[in-house]
Amino acid sequence: MKNTYDFGLVGLGVMGRNFILNVADNGFSAFGNDLDTEKVNALIQEGGDTDKVNASTDAKTFVAALSTPRKIMLLVPAGKIVDAVIESLLPLLDEGDIIIDGGNSFFTDTDRRDAYLAEKGIHFFGAGVSGGAKGARLGPSIMPGGNREAYQYVKPIFEAVSAKYKGEPCVAYLGPKSAGNYVKMVHNGIEYGLMQLTSEIYDLLKKGGNYTNDELHEAYSKWNSGRLQSFLVQITSEILAQDDELGEGRLVDKILDKAKQKGTGKWTSQNAMDLGIPVPSIDIAVSMREISALKDERIAADKLYDRPKVEHIMDKAALEKLAEQALYFSFIITYAQGLHQLADASKEYGYELEIAEIAKIWRAGCIIRAGLLADITEAFNADALLPNLLLSPSFIEKVQSTVAAARDLVSYAAKNGIPVPGLSNSLTYFDAYTSSRLPLNLIQAQRDYFGSHTYERVDRDGIFHTEWEK
Ligand code: 6PG
Repeated sequence: MKNTYDFGLVGLGVMGRNFILNVADNGFSAFGNDLDTEKVNALIQEGGDTDKVNASTDAKTFVAALSTPRKIMLLVPAGKIVDAVIESLLPLLDEGDIIIDGGNSFFTDTDRRDAYLAEKGIHFFGAGVSGGAKGARLGPSIMPGGNREAYQYVKPIFEAVSAKYKGEPCVAYLGPKSAGNYVKMVHNGIEYGLMQLTSEIYDLLKKGGNYTNDELHEAYSKWNSGRLQSFLVQITSEILAQDDELGEGRLVDKILDKAKQKGTGKWTSQNAMDLGIPVPSIDIAVSMREISALKDERIAADKLYDRPKVEHIMDKAALEKLAEQALYFSFIITYAQGLHQLADASKEYGYELEIAEIAKIWRAGCIIRAGLLADITEAFNADALLPNLLLSPSFIEKVQSTVAAARDLVSYAAKNGIPVPGLSNSLTYFDAYTSSRLPLNLIQAQRDYFGSHTYERVDRDGIFHTEWEK
């Protein structure tokens, strides 16, 4: 066995195995490590030539097989396992070696590990990997953050294995410390928002337009060849066409309406609150997963209350046009919120993120890839300091020409008792963000009334307090 493998990977689950095979396909030799003998053997068999792909259950053999500085990627579940793997590798590593955590680790965990490993002379990267199992095999979007100098060792491999958009690799050094994990977290928050919106539009077409699954499939696939082109719209169209192998009809109708979550969307919302950046389209997507989980209570409550029945069925062509516009509008709003959060987090945590660079590496490979991201990249290329996409001159027309459809559908849905919280939150966010005067003057007055919290005035400088009860 040679001892010059270019790349090491711990965790040979589906993602890890696929990633390693992708590395090997791109001309680098790779060595895997997993405690599970079956997984190790399966990889060796699938890899074919052991000079290109090899693996061992033994950490010592694994570490000894790698060329230095060692580049070791971990694709193991986020949390304590990452720390345990790091601890088991540490005594075997040399100064200058590199550990890359490719999981969805919480960003403060990455900062802690980065500081701990830096003391020992080991470089640490938190690198979000998006694109699921297929992406890992054929080209994911990779979001690495960590030591800029050490990135040169990882760069050729990541650029080779990543997805390509018009020949450009969907990976870039994003910033120090947890920048990569943070960006991946917000990617997932946006993912939650887009998924919620896609499902609301599906519901509206079904309930408001009596769409069949075939018609729904056609609508989504038509949209996917237009300005809504995106991975999530594409898979929605495919999902709607999937027959149920265990019974009659389409599979989508048999799936229980309870959505699970692993936490990244919730973290995005929680941290946006900490930063003071509003991301209501993401917040509501998290809440809707939580509401969906309360199935028994929903069934009980459904019996207790009358909600309006859908009486007015809309003309299909008219509804479909509105739905396309509203989905496009609310997708833009969701990206705008997520990117706003990234811009602010960059200042708060010293990431020095370049938003255009992030939009660029999201154009292919990742779950939120979409035609829109090419336009978003251009908007931030034109103005790197843009605080919010809604302020970009190149987005005014896109938003202005589609917001009316969102209004029509939100009011239609409200009248007919169809929940569209993602759409209505996106619309309300837009209306609030674009209002030069909001009624929060009254809130300031109330705060001052009951707590002497003071207020500012619109017509003169200074801090004021009024004895309201006098
Ligand atoms: C990706 C996905 C991936 C994973 C999500 C699912 O970018 O490839 O985001 O990371 O599928 O974490 O998240 P939930 O289980 O929370 O829906």
